[in-house]
Amino acid sequence: MKLVLACLAVLFLASVLARPGKSKKQSAGDAFEDAGITELLNIQAPTNWLKVKYGPIEVKRGNDIYPGDTIEQPTITFDQADPDTYYAWFLLDPNYNNYSAKDKKPYKALLYALYVNIKNINIKAADVLAKYLGPSPRTGTGEHYYVHLLWEQQEKIDVSSCDMPDYETDQRYPFNLTEFISQYNLSDEPAAGNFHTASFPDDLQEVCEEGGYC
Ligand SMILES: *[C@@H]1O[C@H](CO)[C@@H](O)[C@H](O)[C@H]1NC(C)=O
Ligand SMILES: *[C@@H]1O[C@H](CO)[C@@H](O)[C@H](O)[C@H]1NC(C)=O
Ligand SMILES: *[C@@H]1O[C@H](CO)[C@@H](O)[C@H](O)[C@H]1NC(C)=O
Repeated sequence: MKLVLACLAVLFLASVLARPGKSKKQSAGDAFEDAGITELLNIQAPTNWLKVKYGPIEVKRGNDIYPGDTIEQPTITFDQADPDTYYAWFLLDPNYNNYSAKDKKPYKALLYALYVNIKNINIKAADVLAKYLGPSPRTGTGEHYYVHLLWEQQEKIDVSSCDMPDYETDQRYPFNLTEFISQYNLSDEPAAGNFHTASFPDDLQEVCEEGGYC
């Protein structure tokens, strides 16, 4: 009997270990690659998961979150943060117009939030370049990714410089992440990331058609 149990245990372990991609402990890097987000944004995959919460709702590797639940700015946490480093936090829709690969490359991103000079992941004390906007997928464009990224800065960014882009008045679309990263000396790959998905709510489709907003 003991031998049978031992054999079963070995088989179970072997089957779990043989499917690392399907285990619940998928790495942030693998999830970003699998979802195609690294390609959409033309970035390297983040090393760690970023914890993002909208009230009680947690952003979790591509889970669907109703846009009405993401109107308020989320809280973010990153346990591995280095206390001496400044960080930049982005929220992006990497493919705002839902172009397909054969349609139109490069994909064009919409910037929903950009906060810099973050110390100890204290967003409240950060410098705001683009004030948080709740994800708003356009009607008829299917499912969108909302990608949260935390990058290490090499130094503090001088936000009073007159070269600083102003995302309240400047367009947030298309936003060129690659360009921002190189211009402001951010790390080669994001320190942490996470993403959720959302679509234009079905229950609003009728209202929108009747009102002629679609
Ligand atoms: C948008 O993407 C989804 C898949 O995520 C697809 O089903 C849908 O047809 C696309 N919509 C458009 C307008 O291309
Ligand atoms: C973004 O900027 C980079 C670097 O300046 C450039 O090579 C790339 O073509 C730009 N991408 C888009 C979509 O404009
Ligand atoms: C980025 O680094 C370069 C070279 O180290 C420096 O000249 C430049 O001022 C830095 N850019 C910013 C925005 O701090």
